[in-house]
Amino acid sequence: MRHLLSVADLGPDGIEEVLRLTDNFVEVSARAIPRVPALRGKTVVSLFYEDSTRTRLSFETAAKRLNADTMNFSVSSSSVNKGESVRDTVTTIAAMGVDAIVVRHSSAGVPWQVARWTDAAVLNAGDGWHEHPTQALLDCYTIRERRGSLAGLRVAIVGDVKHSRVARSNVLAFSLLGADVTLVAPPTLLPPSLAGWPVAVSHDLDDVLPKADVVYLLRMQRERQTEALLPSLREYTALYGLTRDRAKLLGDDTIVMHPGPMNRGVEIAAEVADLPGAVITRQVANGVAVRMAVLFLILGSGGDLGG
Ligand code: NCD
Repeated sequence: MRHLLSVADLGPDGIEEVLRLTDNFVEVSARAIPRVPALRGKTVVSLFYEDSTRTRLSFETAAKRLNADTMNFSVSSSSVNKGESVRDTVTTIAAMGVDAIVVRHSSAGVPWQVARWTDAAVLNAGDGWHEHPTQALLDCYTIRERRGSLAGLRVAIVGDVKHSRVARSNVLAFSLLGADVTLVAPPTLLPPSLAGWPVAVSHDLDDVLPKADVVYLLRMQRERQTEALLPSLREYTALYGLTRDRAKLLGDDTIVMHPGPMNRGVEIAAEVADLPGAVITRQVANGVAVRMAVLFLILGSGGDLGG
């Protein structure tokens, strides 16, 4: 694997390979000193043009646990504010000698462009509404950890699908691993066309919840909504939020997931996020191990973890 741009590039076998390797890094992460020298001498830079807490820290932690050097580019304190283009920024960073660039940008496709402008490996950490492949991988890993496999599981992805790169990557990954995916959202929060999406659609959350093995809530992405798509947030929550009352419809083994950051009280009730079926902090913990696996697959040499 040279880059990680899209879940589609991995295919089912590629996803399985990452998930298998992740087991090793979950084990490494549980050690007293959670480090292996696998990427000693390699440099990983994060180039984030959009806000992030989890993804940025997770990639950095992953790189550090593999003993890579890390560089951190922050738009707010960089020459981007002096008008430097993405291309010039990438060329500048590449000239310092980096092995991998982790990119997040508000426009779809930017990681592909970056990959054309540099010899370094490029990892997509979220491009616009398009894709977020490492999120999908960590979500697959987290479901597998609880349920053994995704094959035949019924997964409901609920909420603002239209603006969600997490939804796009997860629909692909979950269906490649054999899950049945249902999108549950008001029509205004679905993409204008779902042609080619391997999904069913419902507008009735109460009907879907009792049958779901996994309920995946999306953040209401208000910063991406340029027009009024909802009568009110309160009405959204009443119809599509996982409220305390609605959570009673969930089966005993149903897993509740959210990519973060959560709007507690909007798409998920505060107390529901803390129920035993909610694996939201597990997703974050697994995110580090999954990103270690991805960095190792792309930058490691010869399959040796080095200890
Ligand atoms: C998501 C993102 O930025 O795509 N967060 C994340 O990476 N865990 C989801 C979101 O912003 O809603």
